[in-house]
Amino acid sequence: MGILEVKDVGKRFGGLKALSDVNLSVKENTCHAIIGPNGAGKSTLLNCLVGKLIPDTGSVMFQGQSVLGRSPHEINQMGISRVFQTPEIFGDLTVFENMMIPLFAKRDGAYRLHAIESVMNEKSLIEEAEKMLEEVNMLDKRHMHSASMSRGDKRRLEMAMCLVQSPKLLLLDEPTAGMARADTNNTIDLLKQIKEERDITIAIIEHDMHVVFSLADRITVLAQGTPLVEDAPENIKGHPKVQEAYLGEAH
Ligand SMILES: Nc1ncnc2c1ncn2[C@@H]1O[C@H](COP(=O)(O)OP(=O)(O)O)[C@@H](O)[C@H]1O
Ligand SMILES: [Mg+2]
Repeated sequence: MGILEVKDVGKRFGGLKALSDVNLSVKENTCHAIIGPNGAGKSTLLNCLVGKLIPDTGSVMFQGQSVLGRSPHEINQMGISRVFQTPEIFGDLTVFENMMIPLFAKRDGAYRLHAIESVMNEKSLIEEAEKMLEEVNMLDKRHMHSASMSRGDKRRLEMAMCLVQSPKLLLLDEPTAGMARADTNNTIDLLKQIKEERDITIAIIEHDMHVVFSLADRITVLAQGTPLVEDAPENIKGHPKVQEAYLGEAH
């Protein structure tokens, strides 16, 4: 049994079948990549995993508990964190202030931006924020305004904001989309470090095959809303079904 079990999931948007018969088992402490051409249903699937969408059919179980119908906060408390395609950080705040947001949310259930100031002097939270920034090698940037950082560093900060909540499962939707090669490599290095140092499972949706093959232990290829192949990376490269799925894509 995997830490995450997706069984017979289907999802329609009106007349469009976005997902059908999706079965997926993500094993604990592995990195599982979900790849596939544009419109294959990857983001829809991820949204079903974090309770943002409720599938029409099927089940999604995390550590034996259903995630369906739960609020984003409840999903977080179950141990699932998600990184969106565009970094969700506050550009007006410093790196350190951004780090305080999830710590505050973890303690008080939710965060209100205007209340962040009230926790800025709390020693235990400050120490936790600094420890996390040190782990991702950003402590020297703690006074920087996040808007002025590179995309790679923004992503690094956003991941730190997820990791400080000690998730068991980290979900990433195209974390390197639109990045320059240096920022992409920076993100790969960080994810490798996270995999090695933490007791964590990663599920990643990614277009960039360099990223996929640098990180994944297992790959599922999704096409037209349904898994085509699931295998180890070495068997995915050059697989005829995978090439067929990508035919017509400019990659
Ligand atoms: N909220 C929505 N309403 C209607 N159609 C949608 C919605 N979200 C996604 N779709 C459609 O579902 C299909 C799968 O989309 P998506 O999951 O975003 O694919 P991917 O992430 O693999 O590019 C696409 O045809 C897309 O246009
Ligand atoms: Mg998508």
